[in-house]
Amino acid sequence: MDYYVIKGGKKLKGEVEISGAKNAALPIIVASLLADGETVLKNVPDLMDIRTMIRVIEYLGAETEFDIEKNTLRIRVNSIKNSEMPYELVKTMRASYYVMGPLLARLGEADVSLPGGCAIGERPVDIHLAGFEAMGAEIRLEHGYIKARAKDGLKPATFVMRQVSVGATANLMMGAVFSKGKTILENCAMEPDVVDLGNFLNKMGAKITGLGTERIVIEGVKKLKAITYSVIPDRIETGTYLLAGAITRGDVTVKNCIPEHVGALIDTLKYAGFNLDVKKDSIRVSNGKNLRGFMIKTLPYPGFPTDLQAPLMSLAATIPGISVIIETIFENRYTHVGELRRMGADITLEGNIAIVKGVKDLMSAPVMMSDLRAGAALVLAALAAQGKTEIRRIYHSDRGYEKLSEKLLSLGADIKREKGGTF
Ligand code: UD1
Repeated sequence: MDYYVIKGGKKLKGEVEISGAKNAALPIIVASLLADGETVLKNVPDLMDIRTMIRVIEYLGAETEFDIEKNTLRIRVNSIKNSEMPYELVKTMRASYYVMGPLLARLGEADVSLPGGCAIGERPVDIHLAGFEAMGAEIRLEHGYIKARAKDGLKPATFVMRQVSVGATANLMMGAVFSKGKTILENCAMEPDVVDLGNFLNKMGAKITGLGTERIVIEGVKKLKAITYSVIPDRIETGTYLLAGAITRGDVTVKNCIPEHVGALIDTLKYAGFNLDVKKDSIRVSNGKNLRGFMIKTLPYPGFPTDLQAPLMSLAATIPGISVIIETIFENRYTHVGELRRMGADITLEGNIAIVKGVKDLMSAPVMMSDLRAGAALVLAALAAQGKTEIRRIYHSDRGYEKLSEKLLSLGADIKREKGGTF
């Protein structure tokens, strides 16, 4: 299996282009099942998760063509061939669960394997199911599969999510597009990825209002049409490269991004003492004076994103003083802590609170990625550490960072992707 070898201590400098947003592209690819004809998606990142999602829609009957040089994905849909999503695909990627909305909307039935646990916690889908039930679907669990039936189509409903959920908001929004009347979703996720999905659906002909607010209203339409659409830039990748600039005390400009989408991170970095120059679609971060510890709590958007919690912790480990990080979205999202400690970080865990005492230097150590964002945290720590760090299980970062080593190399990092090794 491939692994990274990173020789730390180089200050990253230069410009880096941000790819399309994985978490917006995933539901948008699925939503293309809602219209017959050819959908053309631009700015689709070439990632393992995207390839899995392509397999998912092909399994359901779509034909696809992915031009990875141009990041353009063509999807042709004539009919949906089946209404089942097997365990093999759902267990590879939890977001396969997004098929439930479009399948119920178009066919009135969906048999989707229940996802199991994952590295960052239990991650149930009860809110998705309660929402579809409120829209009149009958839901049964049989042999590990959720069987959802809405013989005469999903009905308009008012549904309040018991907790803000990105996945449930997206899934229910897709489910409601053909309902005869007005569906009102309350306590919705306001994440840019959800807004991008909604904009895509509206361009296809859906009538959705309230995107980016807690209350989304979907007025059902009869039909949607296939369109051409460009996916928004990835805010988590944006944040990761800003953190790479900060942790190496370098000078990095992140281009082709939407600064507003990383407001919570920008403010945290400013507070910590870094210099930030924010333009319309680029952000420059450079080293500041008198760096100091900070406190953040992960929250639904526009709060601090849980997906940047691990990478931010690596930075905290290098900043003088104490930083406090509180994870409120996912249980068990601290699998990077043990690995960062092996690299010399001083981190104390107290339930979902991490107390990080900055050290003068992180040091290299053999480490292993346990999930996508924990993996990004290790890459950042290695970039700042003294010595040569070997990072294993990099298939996790392949899931979500397009051309990670190439982009870091172009910023002056000493990073090599090597083949081999036993694990
Ligand atoms: C999405 C993102 C993920 C990000 C997360 C939070 C994708 C593909 N993934 O995941 O990168 O970390 O949002 O921003 O877009 N919950 C329930 N029941 C449900 C659904 C969710 O209890 O039916 C809980 C979850 O366990 C979690 C919280 O709600 O504690 C938020 O989860 P959710 O927003 O649904 O995350 P995902 O959509 O899975």
